[in-house]
Amino acid sequence: FNKTQFQNSLIEWFKKEQRILPWRENQDPYRVWVSEIMLQQTRVDTVIPYFNHFMEKFPDPKSLAEADEQEVLKAWEGLGYYSRARNLQTAVKEVVADYDGVVPDNPKDLGELKGVGPYTKGAILSIAYDTPEPAVDGNVMRVLSRILHVEDDIAKPSTRKVFEQLVRELISEEDPSSFNQGMMELGALICTPKNPSCLLCPIQDQCRAFEQGIETELPVKTSK
Ligand code: ADE
Repeated sequence: FNKTQFQNSLIEWFKKEQRILPWRENQDPYRVWVSEIMLQQTRVDTVIPYFNHFMEKFPDPKSLAEADEQEVLKAWEGLGYYSRARNLQTAVKEVVADYDGVVPDNPKDLGELKGVGPYTKGAILSIAYDTPEPAVDGNVMRVLSRILHVEDDIAKPSTRKVFEQLVRELISEEDPSSFNQGMMELGALICTPKNPSCLLCPIQDQCRAFEQGIETELPVKTSK
């Protein structure tokens, strides 16, 4: 396994094949934050119009902090999991009060914000601030479990840490944003749960699961 080759193939593929998505227009940390919260329990196609509308109504932390909660919930209507919207507004109020409206750029301050867990924290730090931090969700665990043939049970909460450690070892210091987004995009477009498109995969020749013909056996997920 060649780390540099893996990073280069992934990043080159991402830059060429990534979907045009509204939260990829720039690196504004507030936009990255809102998009990652919306995307946690909701599909990309569903999120797009909500994200655009939300950004028109609440274009920056100050406007969201000052909005009526009912207005925020109205803009969230249809996305579900409304505590995401309440927590986001609570956290954005903290950002305005404590950080002059600037989203923190370090793990400690970010992680203390309401609703910002390890995944969201890593996504903001890498995508908005070009910091080499892992952003591990189910997609990333699936992709990495296949590439490296990891059999840890992804249904176990403690397994996320295993994958975070692997990403810390593998992430590009040069372009952590494209690396993490490339992992997410690969999971969405190629390395799908069922019928993965291995023949189109930019890292097919580096994938232990493909080599052994066991890509659909991974990741290991008990229960459910
Ligand atoms: N899923 C989670 N985060 C994402 C992102 N930034 N782009 C596309 N899909 C995602």
